[in-house]
Amino acid sequence: MSILHISTSPQQAGSHSRELGRHLVERLKSAIDLPAVVRDLAETPPPFPCAGFVQASLSASTRSFANKSDALTVSEHLIAEVEQASAIIIDMPMHNFTVPAAFKAWIDMVVRPERTFRPCPRIADRAARPKLTAHDRTPRSPGRRSRAAGRGRSRPPACH
Ligand SMILES: Cc1cc2nc3c(=O)[nH]c(=O)nc-3n(C[C@H](O)[C@H](O)[C@H](O)COP(=O)(O)O)c2cc1C
Repeated sequence: MSILHISTSPQQAGSHSRELGRHLVERLKSAIDLPAVVRDLAETPPPFPCAGFVQASLSASTRSFANKSDALTVSEHLIAEVEQASAIIIDMPMHNFTVPAAFKAWIDMVVRPERTFRPCPRIADRAARPKLTAHDRTPRSPGRRSRAAGRGRSRPPACH
């Protein structure tokens, strides 16, 4: 097992996020005695998903098993690092209100259907999704409505 240390900043010297990441890894290593595996996404950026990768990752014959297709080699390597990690520390700057592009590429390599996640049936089930419906209540009698309106307590539409 290991501590997986993922660095994402394009900057090396002077990078704030890298400095913070190194500090956290040192702190963690003093608590759990494990080797750190460094995955530097600026030094070796993962490839963007290409057509071959998409086909292989969605194909029934390759999606559950490791290394069935050359197009999945990088993906399998990065997934293995995650699988072998007891802890993962990711240091990253914000780039244009999101993650650096190299980290998004890493996510696309690691998050694969039927390999590292399965679609959740509860989410796929339309009936189980949170629903918002609004309806107005029909008052039981005109008298009750006018009494409520007269007291300034008419009910708002109910939401479920
Ligand atoms: C391309 C680029 C986009 C950035 N976008 C944002 C941003 O959207 N919001 C923000 O607060 N800082 C943004 N920054 C600033 C960095 O997040 C900030 O300088 C950070 O400390 C850099 O981390 P580093 O020193 O580890 O590289 C951006 C910097 C760069 C280079």
